[in-house]
Amino acid sequence: MTDATDAVLDSVAVDRAAELIAQATNIVVLSGAGISAESGIPTFREAQTGLWARFSPADLASPEAFARDPARVWAWYHWRRTLIARGGPNAGHHALVSLAATQHLHIITQNVDGLHQAAGSASVTELHGNIWRERCSNCAHRRTARIAEAQGDAPVRCADCGDLMRPDIVWFGEHLPTRALATAEQAVADADCVLVIGTSNQVYPAAAFVDTVVAGKATVIEINPARTPVSGDVDCCLRVSASLALPAIVAALDAGQPSR
Ligand code: APR
Repeated sequence: MTDATDAVLDSVAVDRAAELIAQATNIVVLSGAGISAESGIPTFREAQTGLWARFSPADLASPEAFARDPARVWAWYHWRRTLIARGGPNAGHHALVSLAATQHLHIITQNVDGLHQAAGSASVTELHGNIWRERCSNCAHRRTARIAEAQGDAPVRCADCGDLMRPDIVWFGEHLPTRALATAEQAVADADCVLVIGTSNQVYPAAAFVDTVVAGKATVIEINPARTPVSGDVDCCLRVSASLALPAIVAALDAGQPSR
């Protein structure tokens, strides 16, 4: 992960972002793993840590990996669930909740950690599913794991048919949920301001939404400590972490708008 904490907040960029948001009537957030980095959850393009260091997510988050070694895949998801439960939402997630209190805001996320909802965001579309939901590999049984559930590392079995449950997550090589895609397409089409937060814009079709908004009429604000393929085409860049930038933008809006 880029060490965002060393980056300095550019107050001019913060004010510009606040100005663009204040003028907007329909805000969409396109968020990726970076918004959860400050919650202690490794992003995808950085090397994994600890016992998972020798694996890349693509080695684990695929139907082939699950068929080959379901116990290893479940152990990885249990590890990630433990990190999520321990870290919880950060100041960036909470700032988006504050923003949604006075602005029409919809979040389209590639993240499966559920931290936007845990922070209190109500209008969220999950393009890649949710790590806390599980579905049976064989029958239609579904369940949602409770965060407090003992996180062993054994594969989870279906209570109805006894077959293996799998995380209700879109794995590499699988299609995104059609309803989520349709909702996201409509939200992006209606938006007049888009915040692209913590995504490397490398994984399609999710990255196509970023390409669409950058080529469209909406103003685009990118929050990412590192440059991405669209950094040169956005209206405003904050080259710092989301947990630094978003609260600063909310504070600038509060300062500038007595009505908030
Ligand atoms: N704040 C904001 N952005 C950050 C922070 C931070 N604190 N720390 C890192 N970033 C940025 C990185 O610079 C990078 O551009 O977040 C981005 C994370 O990129 P990826 O790891 O590629 O994550 P993401 O873009 O969400 O990946 C998309 O790929 O592996 C699949 O399904 C998986 O949803 C994932 C998808």
